[in-house]
Amino acid sequence: MSEVRMHNNEHRTTSAGRLWDFPTRAFHWSLVILIGWEWASSHLGGNWMTYHMWGGYIVLMLIIFRVMWGFIGSTTARFSSFLASPKRTWRYLMTLRGHQHHANPGHNPLGGWAVVAFLLALAIQAGTGLFATDDILNAGPLNALVRNRTADFLTLVHKVNFDILLGLIAVHIVAIALHQVLGGKNLLTPMITGHTSAAAPSMSRAPLAFSRPWVGLMTLGLSAVITWLIINA
Ligand code: HEM
Ligand code: HEM
Repeated sequence: MSEVRMHNNEHRTTSAGRLWDFPTRAFHWSLVILIGWEWASSHLGGNWMTYHMWGGYIVLMLIIFRVMWGFIGSTTARFSSFLASPKRTWRYLMTLRGHQHHANPGHNPLGGWAVVAFLLALAIQAGTGLFATDDILNAGPLNALVRNRTADFLTLVHKVNFDILLGLIAVHIVAIALHQVLGGKNLLTPMITGHTSAAAPSMSRAPLAFSRPWVGLMTLGLSAVITWLIINA
């Protein structure tokens, strides 16, 4: 791997392999664990709801982190690198029929929109949770800020949106499996190791830039502060 220092806070690599930075991968797998936790804790109920709320705060923090990382993170994590126009997304869909691989390293146009859909659904889930109540023991920290009817409505959204989230996750996993089976493209390993064995993705375009770890840490710290401010609003 040959590295060239570009700025103080990022460095470019011409390595064929590196694709996802650590913060993006840590974000993803923490999310997977936490969504499982949120589901389990909500069904255990009772005192477990305290931990349900804590898990929800961490999800909220992760979402805020990922949105900021979409602007200042590594190339493949940036919205500007994977948000495609409807026209380009359509063209991508058409090329899928011919089993052509898209050359841009990172999310394909459809995957890019899936990121947005996930972030939206997760923000709605965590956001409505703050106002939700089981009308017995447990209520989110912002529940008292709204009228009962509003809180009941937001609780309903909290429940319905979880099913939407499950639907998104199912499509997500099927899409990744189809890439493997029909396209022979392994997306899973890069999301775990950060590296791809696909032919030099960074050679097809400008080299990928990777943000420095301390930028990720600072961003995470800032997301924690913002989350704290929201919870204590
Ligand atoms: C994004 C993360 C979250 C997920 C995936 C999630 C998921 C769930 C699920 C599946 C339920 C059960 C719904 C049902 O009974 O059918 C639930 C209930 C509940 N959640 Fe969350 N939740 C999240 C975040 C939060 C947050 C941040 C809070 C508050 C701080 C919260 C507060 C509640 C409350 C109070 C209930 C009980 C509602 C009831 O039983 O009527 N949740 N949540
Ligand atoms: C709670 C369940 C899940 C949620 C909410 C979720 C969400 C996401 C999100 C938001 C991304 C975009 C990553 C980013 O740029 O920040 C992503 C990508 C990815 N996820 Fe998941 N995911 C879930 C479960 C899984 C599971 C179980 C797998 C394993 C099969 C998986 C494999 C992947 C892979 C391989 C990518 C990269 C796709 C690509 O190359 O474009 N995810 N996921």
